[in-house]
Amino acid sequence: MKVLITGATGNVGLALLRALVDQPSIEVVAGVRDVDKDKAQFDELKHLECRHFDFGREATFDAALHGIDLVFLLRPPPIADIPRFFAPLIQKIKHSGITKVVLLSVQGAERSNIIPHRKIEKLILAHELEYIFLRPSYFMENLTTTLLPEIKALRTITLPSRNAQFNWVSVQDIGAIAANLMVHFETHKNQALVISGNENLSFDEVVQRLNRLTGARIRYKSVNPLRYYYLKRREGQPRDKVMVMLVLHFLPVLQGPPKISDRFQTIMQRKPILLEQFIADNQRHFLR
Ligand SMILES: NC(=O)c1ccc[n+]([C@@H]2O[C@H](COP(=O)([O-])OP(=O)(O)OC[C@H]3O[C@@H](n4cnc5c(N)ncnc54)[C@H](OP(=O)(O)O)[C@@H]3O)[C@@H](O)[C@H]2O)c1
Repeated sequence: MKVLITGATGNVGLALLRALVDQPSIEVVAGVRDVDKDKAQFDELKHLECRHFDFGREATFDAALHGIDLVFLLRPPPIADIPRFFAPLIQKIKHSGITKVVLLSVQGAERSNIIPHRKIEKLILAHELEYIFLRPSYFMENLTTTLLPEIKALRTITLPSRNAQFNWVSVQDIGAIAANLMVHFETHKNQALVISGNENLSFDEVVQRLNRLTGARIRYKSVNPLRYYYLKRREGQPRDKVMVMLVLHFLPVLQGPPKISDRFQTIMQRKPILLEQFIADNQRHFLR
């Protein structure tokens, strides 16, 4: 089976490419925005077929989808306008005769019609494609990506999250299970699967763990949503990004602890990675 991986240079995309290396039944095509640059930059892409693919440029869709059996779709964080970016793509997938889609969605997508991931899920359903919606919880890797600049500059994590519990899952595990689901697509198709880790922890607890394990001296600062908005805007962050971060980190205050799902363990026959393991593997990021 030939699969097109969108977002191949991102966190989940790279984890998925690494996991697919061991899957002889899958022929991988990476959809990237800059074939030459991305190939040179990432070892994982060097020996892969890379095709030019840009969600914002319909002209790239035909060649990228040619001969493909299954598309792994994700919503790049900067893309919020789903009808504009995803409706033409899903239509093109359907008209190309491709029947299978694995979508990286998010835990709780079903609870809101305004979450962009839910809008994409609905488009896929409306086009009667066979699908697997992967709905992961909160990525451990946020600590080494989105939240890292503040950790490095100020030794703090500032969020509007009070003592809310987040469920922590590793992107490595998301890549591994996405690869497995592609291989066994027929078994799992037409389902939405919540993929969580085994731990619900507040940011306070995470920072305590982080400091204990690495000797780093990082502080968690909870601020109210309005203050968070103004702080981040004053730092020069774009409005849309601040709003997404705000909603993502404040909603759990209102919603209560996330559900822990056993899907990962049942499908992968192993436990998901623990936060302690992630911190140990990534401690270089947290030290000065
Ligand atoms: N963070 C969390 O806790 C969490 C939890 C659950 C679900 N999610 C969901 O996971 C998704 C993000 O995954 P990620 O962390 O792997 O993202 P990421 O690391 O930010 O990667 C985004 C990828 O999308 C590509 N991309 C951006 N704009 C593009 C465009 N116009 N055309 C084609 N490709 C484009 C990027 O390519 P370039 O290299 O060209 O920029 C990159 O490969 C989001 O939908 C998010 O909501 C996140």
